Amino acid sequence: MSVLVTGGTGYIGSHTCVDFIEKGKEVIILDNLSNSKEEVVGFIEQITGIRPKFYNIDLLDREGVKRVFDENDIDTVIHFAGLKAVGESVAKPIEYYHNNITGTLNLIFEMRDHDCFKLVFSSSATVYGKPETVPIKEDFPLSTTNPYGTTKLYIERILTDLCVADDRFSVVLLRYFNPIGAHDSALIGDNPNGIPNNLMPYVTRVAKGTLPHLNVFGNDYDTCDGTGVRDFIHVLDLAAGHYAALKALEKSGVSIYNLGTGNGYSVLQLIDAFERVNNIKIPYQITDRRPGDIAECYADASKAERELGWKAVHTLDEMCASAWKFESSIK
Ligand code: WQD
Repeated sequence: MSVLVTGGTGYIGSHTCVDFIEKGKEVIILDNLSNSKEEVVGFIEQITGIRPKFYNIDLLDREGVKRVFDENDIDTVIHFAGLKAVGESVAKPIEYYHNNITGTLNLIFEMRDHDCFKLVFSSSATVYGKPETVPIKEDFPLSTTNPYGTTKLYIERILTDLCVADDRFSVVLLRYFNPIGAHDSALIGDNPNGIPNNLMPYVTRVAKGTLPHLNVFGNDYDTCDGTGVRDFIHVLDLAAGHYAALKALEKSGVSIYNLGTGNGYSVLQLIDAFERVNNIKIPYQITDRRPGDIAECYADASKAERELGWKAVHTLDEMCASAWKFESSIK
């Protein structure tokens, strides 16, 4: 039996493939390469010694998805594939809804047609909208502030309704906080196209000299130093969280877990750690707040520890060191 990883050549997907292969799972990757490269399959092979089967297929291509299920014995799907740029989603909402939601519907139709009922879905802390308090627990109210986040929330609802209607399905919704860092090999990591939206890839490109300075979006939030506070989690911990989530697939219905460290660090604290660990200065300017940003966002991650036996173990220093090691190794 194999595990199908949609979006398996992407940032979190590729680290999860490595983790699963190292733990003895047979992995098959489906990815349309819209934000990743096929060479990642080779990097996964270099790290693990095993080359996963790769399909360059778009989830919107239902026939293509069917072929993947026809040709393989898949019993579990880890579903990462989706568009994820917040700003772009505001400009292109219907493309986001079509791609993320129709893609997921095609996937679950084919799963059902092929008697495959176990799914782990890549959701996001963005579904908590503007939380009234932190740390955030899984039962906090849900809302969104942009179409990207709304696709995550709608897919969560679709999968929940599916499980109510059909008790053969078991689904785990994993709500990620802020994944950063890279594999120790520096072969895989976060390498977005164009100017990065997220903090760490922006920082590493400033460190490299590709971008002149970092803009820190606001220093007048009600936080320890006025800058935004986030729950940065090492992508290796996040990958391990998916493996731990397999345990929750043993029972039918929906299970929901936050994947975070439970600690918040501010933007300035992250810059400090990056500078200290890597001995590089990050020039920055304070600019206006970014619309839609919230002051503080960090997880109560105790449910995943209690029920899945999973806990993030990597430090912020390790995240900063590995992120820079990866960026500095990119040609
Ligand atoms: C973190 C902090 C910024 C860039 C977003 C999505 C979320 C999730 C992850 C993924 C904030 C500040 C950032 C910069 C800065 N989705 N910042 N200068 O906003 O917490 O979450 O990415 O697929 O849905 O909303 O992450 O890394 O963009 O920002 O000062 O150039 O860094 O204001 O306080 P965010 P982020």
